[in-house]
Amino acid sequence: MIKAIASRKSTRKYNNTPVESNKILSLIESARMAPSGSNTQPWHFIIVTNNEIKDQIVKVNNNQQWMNTAPVFIVCVADIRCRIKEDKDIYLDENCDLPELKQIIRDTAIAIEHILLEAENIGLSSCWTAWFSQTEMRPIMNIPNDKYVVGVITIGYSDNSGKPASKKSLESIIRYEKW
Ligand SMILES: Cc1cc2nc3c(=O)[nH]c(=O)nc-3n(C[C@H](O)[C@H](O)[C@H](O)COP(=O)(O)O)c2cc1C
Repeated sequence: MIKAIASRKSTRKYNNTPVESNKILSLIESARMAPSGSNTQPWHFIIVTNNEIKDQIVKVNNNQQWMNTAPVFIVCVADIRCRIKEDKDIYLDENCDLPELKQIIRDTAIAIEHILLEAENIGLSSCWTAWFSQTEMRPIMNIPNDKYVVGVITIGYSDNSGKPASKKSLESIIRYEKW
């Protein structure tokens, strides 16, 4: 595990080797095992390989063209209905102040990190992207307004360029007993 954690880095250039579908299933399987508050498991994952859909996703994602070098996108969606049961209209976006939105984003983010680490573990590379608005992203994939897209993860085989990001030192982030 520590090997995968230490070697994972955001990859923004992929070669054109296709990704095996059983490997994609392994990624979703790793997400499925993630912890979540009250075991609500608010996550859903849309696997996107269609070039037209990918292109639309890239455009609303601040037109990050490097994304198109990745053969697969995993669109990670949080569903608030696991926490709000009453039958009322809900429109989720960045300005929504429902406390449950924070909870479903938190839990789905954990599942996404499982995906990033399992990708590294099985020889794939990835990058979490989230430079988009809900209003523009959701309609591309017919995602209902009561769902929240937490991230679009690019998945593929790295072209082996790109340096690891610098990380804060252990001493600078750790405290003992009290702040
Ligand atoms: C919530 C989130 C959103 C991100 N969005 C983007 C993005 O839109 N584009 C991008 O190139 N990288 C994005 N990243 C990747 C970060 O830039 C990257 O994780 C950070 O620089 C540390 O590098 P590392 O992942 O290689 O450790 C995002 C990461 C997270 C966790």
